[in-house]
Amino acid sequence: MAYVFRQATSDDCEVLMSLIQEIATYHHLQDDVTINAQVLKADGFGEDPFYKCILAELPVENGCKKASPVGYALYFFGYNVNHGRMVYLENLYVVSEFRGKGIGKQLMAKVAEVALAAGCMDMKFMTMEWNRRAKEFYLRLGAHDTTESEQLHCMELGTDALRRLAQDGKEP
Ligand SMILES: CC(C)(COP(=O)(O)OP(=O)(O)OC[C@H]1O[C@@H](n2cnc3c(N)ncnc32)[C@H](O)[C@@H]1OP(=O)(O)O)[C@@H](O)C(=O)NCCC(=O)NCCS
Repeated sequence: MAYVFRQATSDDCEVLMSLIQEIATYHHLQDDVTINAQVLKADGFGEDPFYKCILAELPVENGCKKASPVGYALYFFGYNVNHGRMVYLENLYVVSEFRGKGIGKQLMAKVAEVALAAGCMDMKFMTMEWNRRAKEFYLRLGAHDTTESEQLHCMELGTDALRRLAQDGKEP
């Protein structure tokens, strides 16, 4: 079947939100999701968008007015001081009954196309330790596991730590 791949628009935020809930559930992180469709709309489709998203859909068939979403790739651009422009793939998801049909690979190919057109030199992304299927999928596409080769540690400052840090910076 020929799937349709297109850039998401602000009208897709409700659909995108339900797919985000699905992947969060897949990762056992459903209680971690604090955004909603309004936030997605404001953050992705305002003056200075924070992310971009490619949707995969079933083509509209006779009698069916709306295309059904079957997956998405959500990404944003960043900068690497060694190599310059880069793309960060935040989420890649294919609805379970459509996996193994080439949709994930095509979504990756579409992001690669956009990234190269924007002058990016590489694409970064993370996957969970237990997600062997995703790791195998990425390795088959030519990805390197830098956790092992570069002994990288993922680090983050949560909201409380960020606020404390910002406040500390203001104190004499
Ligand atoms: C990972 C995921 C995006 C892959 O998408 P998909 O549409 O099922 O994968 P595709 O059908 O495009 O497969 C592309 C290639 O990877 C291979 N592949 C797919 N799943 C694989 C697996 N579990 N193990 C090994 N190879 C796999 C396919 O055989 C295919 O290889 P080929 O091109 O040589 O034939 C999808 O399974 C998914 O959404 N999983 C749940 C969410 C998830 O884990 N997301 C990534 C987290 S960061």
